[in-house]
Amino acid sequence: MTIAVHATEPVTAVPLVLLHAFPLDSRMWQPVAERLPDEVPVVLVDAPGFGGTTAGAPGLEELAVEVVSAVRALGVEQAVVAGLSMGGYVAMAIADAAPGLLAGIGLLSTKASADPEPARAARLEMVTAIERGEREVALGMLDKLLGETTRETRSAVVEELREQLREAPLAGLVWAQRSMAERPDRIAALAALPDGLPALVLRGAEDVLMAPEDAEAMAEALGVEVVEVAGAGHLTAIEDPDAVATALTDLYRRATA
Ligand code: MLT
Repeated sequence: MTIAVHATEPVTAVPLVLLHAFPLDSRMWQPVAERLPDEVPVVLVDAPGFGGTTAGAPGLEELAVEVVSAVRALGVEQAVVAGLSMGGYVAMAIADAAPGLLAGIGLLSTKASADPEPARAARLEMVTAIERGEREVALGMLDKLLGETTRETRSAVVEELREQLREAPLAGLVWAQRSMAERPDRIAALAALPDGLPALVLRGAEDVLMAPEDAEAMAEALGVEVVEVAGAGHLTAIEDPDAVATALTDLYRRATA
């Protein structure tokens, strides 16, 4: 397994580490990153099999360990770690394995619960379809990744995402689906984080992949209120980068105050 870490060198303050969704790569954070104030040192990570990295054995836990050592290799002891969807699963694996790294945690468009059996089976079906030679399996996700408002009114966002789904690397898709299928419930890991740890739980009001109850459960475990983004579906960071940048800036300032 390899990961790619993109940092503004040198990182002299607590960085904001942004972990991407499936089946995208770290480029999905660009619209948010360019809206963040200069005071926020951004570190982007590509998961195994994405952004030109190699996949290797599945496991979000191994990825969490890699991210923690990559952050420490930048010369910092703590980071604000935020992930969207699959990236949120990785942030929660970090909360479980290395809570001391966290100066704050951001969980966007994600959930702490493990997959029910039908969802696990659907992930492994995608792996089988890829092994059968299907090349564009990720394209079928388009309608569920974007909210109705985006699909109806933001054609540039729709077309850009369609291109990224078409190009989604097969090794990454396989690695991620196998890794996500194995992940455990992490609500206890969130509840065990220090009281008052700065946290953000954010969801798009039109998200059909993550239920409001999922966001409520994480928010309750972390002692915060859910931030809901109107007019956005699952991929909040590309559907409404202004709202996501504002929420992440607020998290970062609370975490570094
Ligand atoms: C994502 O956006 O990362 C995925 O929808 C997460 C998942 O498949 O559970």
